[in-house]
Amino acid sequence: MDNQKADIGFIGLAVMGQNLVQNIASKGFSVAVYNRTAAITREYIETVDSENISPAYSLSDLCNSIKSPKRIMLMVKAGEAVDEVIDQLLPNLHKGDALLDMGNSNYKDTQRRTHQLTEKGILYSGVGVSGGEEGALNGPSIMFGGSKELFTEVEALIKSISAMDFQGAATLTYVGPDGAGHYAKMVHNGIEYAMMQAISEAYFLLRDVFHKDPSEIAAVFANLNEGPLNSYLIQITADVLNKRDDLTEGFLIDKILDVAEQKGTGSWVSISALENGTALNILTEAVFARSLSADKQTRIKLAELSTKNELEKNSRDKNLPDDKQLHKLVEDSLLVSFYLAFIQGFHLLAKAEAENNWQINLSELTRIWQGGCIIRAELLKDLKRYTETKAVLIENEELFKMINGKIPSLRELALMATSHALPLPVMQNSLLYFDSMINPNLPTNLIQGLRDYFGAHTYKRTDREGIFHTNWDDQN
Ligand code: 6PG
Repeated sequence: MDNQKADIGFIGLAVMGQNLVQNIASKGFSVAVYNRTAAITREYIETVDSENISPAYSLSDLCNSIKSPKRIMLMVKAGEAVDEVIDQLLPNLHKGDALLDMGNSNYKDTQRRTHQLTEKGILYSGVGVSGGEEGALNGPSIMFGGSKELFTEVEALIKSISAMDFQGAATLTYVGPDGAGHYAKMVHNGIEYAMMQAISEAYFLLRDVFHKDPSEIAAVFANLNEGPLNSYLIQITADVLNKRDDLTEGFLIDKILDVAEQKGTGSWVSISALENGTALNILTEAVFARSLSADKQTRIKLAELSTKNELEKNSRDKNLPDDKQLHKLVEDSLLVSFYLAFIQGFHLLAKAEAENNWQINLSELTRIWQGGCIIRAELLKDLKRYTETKAVLIENEELFKMINGKIPSLRELALMATSHALPLPVMQNSLLYFDSMINPNLPTNLIQGLRDYFGAHTYKRTDREGIFHTNWDDQN
């Protein structure tokens, strides 16, 4: 009988999946769960102790144990695994059933799957979920993509499991059709990469130029978290820096290898920007900074060959700011980097939504990113206001003036870092982006001339309309 069946099916019981199921069940919805490895399902069921969670040991069992039309959430590794599960599920699905992919799938895969499944009468939804393990359990931020009707139908359930924004409303929104939800999550992750890189650059400066130990740097971050930089990532930075190693003496941070890994979403956002011609240097440098960190052995070899140490010796302690000045330099530089990372992310979103006709409400994203997700930050309150008035965020005068006022700090910090041979890819690229955007006469006229010289690619003029080509061999 249908009323004894579960409200929803759930596939994928890695930690995120387990926590999300517990979250759903705790809100009174019944969930039938399945994992490819039956032992994991068994173990999970033994530990959760909730009458709202029931196990299924095959996909047909799962489908038989949920109400029709079936609503099945997938939380499996992005990529081929998602396609495999869909293929295996298909014989058990009927017209009107729906799959909700809650993982970090590439939006292009989501578009393809939406198209393929729509042809079969199956609804497919790409749902961006942010918040890590803790967010999955206690309330993530949810970016829903797919059919609006499906959204309306499952809204109550998804709303009940999400976190809250600054006003206490659920951090859930309908982003747009097909890949829009996963696109928004991808941009979220690009911003996440940039914020984390900027934070690590501030740490780098405090460690290698100001020679502070991890607990002193943790205190700086704890202090920064009391001001306009208040955010989840700044807050946990203080925790990470303060953590003592339980295997040896000292701070754990000093024992962690400086090679940053990545699962893909950060690079997808850069690929999307390259494809649609949006400047995304800040977010992209954060991806490259991770790639670069992987060359550990080369870095060790080249450090011995370089004159970096001499440079450091020469610039050591020369006119370094005191702690109060330093606090301002770091705070301003992080704020500029954070704001510009969001601005670049939003430019990309605006471009993509126009190209795909997704009708994304950017202001809604600044609202649902206020709670639950990894990039939740106080500055989203301001950004929400700015997105309501200007589509191209950097043209918002109030926002621009605020950033402009903090640029001298970033410039000073960047110069200090350069003189110490300290690379700050996100902070320096924030400055580079700002300086490019305020320059009405970039040297790209010369690029146009060169292109026309060797390839007759033509150019436009500043003084009249039209397309021009010059015979450059003729040197008159
Ligand atoms: C989130 C996170 C989450 C994941 C990152 C990690 O919003 O909850 O973004 O989805 O932890 O994508 O990605 P990397 O392994 O690429 O750093």
